[in-house]
Amino acid sequence: MLALPRVMGHRGAAALAPENTLASIRRAAATGVSWVEFDVMLTSDSVPILFHDDKLERTTGRKGLMAETPCAVVCTLEAGAWFGAEFAGEPVPTLEAALALVRELGLRANVEIKPTPGRERETAAAVVEVVERCWPAAAPPPLISSFKRDCLAVVQDRAPALPRGLLALRLPRDWISAARALECSTLHVAGRWLTAKRVARIKAAGYGLATFTINDVTQARKLLDWGVECIITDSPDVMVSALS
Ligand code: G3P
Ligand code: MG
Repeated sequence: MLALPRVMGHRGAAALAPENTLASIRRAAATGVSWVEFDVMLTSDSVPILFHDDKLERTTGRKGLMAETPCAVVCTLEAGAWFGAEFAGEPVPTLEAALALVRELGLRANVEIKPTPGRERETAAAVVEVVERCWPAAAPPPLISSFKRDCLAVVQDRAPALPRGLLALRLPRDWISAARALECSTLHVAGRWLTAKRVARIKAAGYGLATFTINDVTQARKLLDWGVECIITDSPDVMVSALS
């Protein structure tokens, strides 16, 4: 069974630095967390990069869709200035660069596959290719999570040894059969949907349980009391000092 950390940085450390950037991963490491989550999607020319939205605008100021923009353009976009002047010049990183930094910092990664519509299988295949090429076989592997079952099925098929986590805002009726069929180790469920009873049911089924996105210490304590293992948070600094 994969051991989840008590606290995991969300999109790096999204409250402390521009989300899904190398600066955000560095800030997360500086708080003392041992794991970071980040989102991965494809550029138009199929390069896996760290990004959350289908549209470019919120974090880069540029109009357009990620799925229609090539890596040569995406990787020159300004992805830090929106968050704060000290982050000006921060680029959209490739998955390859992010994994290299994660290794350098001695972190573990939760790679969330976040495909743009219709590119589920292609995105998962590209993530597997980069992980297999760049991540040392002897190092503890990244945890691969996704809301999209098609993504997890591709990972299961091509790289069965990579641990998988099924993401959900609320668990669907068939969650146990889906998690079993995909041979998942973990479930990652929105904190607002969880109750003591639901947590107990998930734990009784034998899954590790992570919850997102929890930025309130009182809520985090309650979730941990119920049996949740991992709090995914934008503010790992606050959670690490409150919960360690
Ligand atoms: O992986 C947990 C969380 O990141 C899922 O939601 O939209 O922030 O990627 P989102
Ligand atoms: Mg995410």
